[in-house]
Amino acid sequence: MLSIKNLDVSVDKKQVLNNFDLDIDDGSIHVIMGPNGVGKSTLSRVIMGDNHYVINNGDIIFNDESIKDMTTDERSRKGIFLVMQYPMEIDGVSNQDFLRTAMSSHMGKKVGLYDFILKCENAIEELKMDKSLIHRSLNVGFSGGEKKKNEVLQLKLLKPSLIILDELDSGLDVDSVRIVAENIVSYKKENPNTSILIITHLPKLLEYLEPDYVHVIINGCICETGGYELAKLIEKNGYNQYFDKSNIIDRK
Ligand SMILES: Nc1ncnc2c1ncn2[C@@H]1O[C@H](COP(=O)(O)OP(=O)(O)O)[C@@H](O)[C@H]1O
Ligand SMILES: [Mg+2]
Repeated sequence: MLSIKNLDVSVDKKQVLNNFDLDIDDGSIHVIMGPNGVGKSTLSRVIMGDNHYVINNGDIIFNDESIKDMTTDERSRKGIFLVMQYPMEIDGVSNQDFLRTAMSSHMGKKVGLYDFILKCENAIEELKMDKSLIHRSLNVGFSGGEKKKNEVLQLKLLKPSLIILDELDSGLDVDSVRIVAENIVSYKKENPNTSILIITHLPKLLEYLEPDYVHVIINGCICETGGYELAKLIEKNGYNQYFDKSNIIDRK
């Protein structure tokens, strides 16, 4: 589904990803772990087409097609969805209008109000969200947890085939982590070909979304790949072993 080849990315003239490679098959769940500031969010944003991040070399292939030069909304319509680490607040745009416009754009036709309300109310209930959030400005004044649930609400309505979760669990209490994780698990069950790229520090989320692969990223590229046991190992031992082994970054 997704193939990232020899990707070099810089932001603000600083090189963040170096010769980065990653292949994600249809229906598989990959996890990216790594200490702060190594380029995890950069990876998610560059896949989504944030133009602050400059690709100096390499390519991003999605379903056999290069998406490197596509706009974010084209990538979104192709079926890529990013749950952002820090969702944006947009004052003056109601959550409801935003969602309905996004759904209409994805479906290539205007979604009727009745149909929208039906789908939306259902999804809101499954996420145990407060119904009034739908009438407020997008994410404005939402708590951290409400913002993340609102991202998952968008996901449920837009039906992507590649989901990127950038620290979905940050800002969520344990019950909310369970609710959003269960919603993603049931989405995956209904759409088994959906692939998921999870960026996380906490193996808690992985108890729900069992990964096929866990990758450790240090200094802009993947330095180790394993299974779920690798995430458990990192929880226990941290990332120091990688710095000792690779000596890539001077941590003094
Ligand atoms: N928009 C930006 N402007 C300037 N520097 C950025 C920007 N985005 C990321 N960076 C820098 O790139 C590096 C990697 O950041 P990021 O990908 O957010 O790390 P992670 O998500 O792994 O914690 C950091 O040094 C960060 O300060
Ligand atoms: Mg990040």
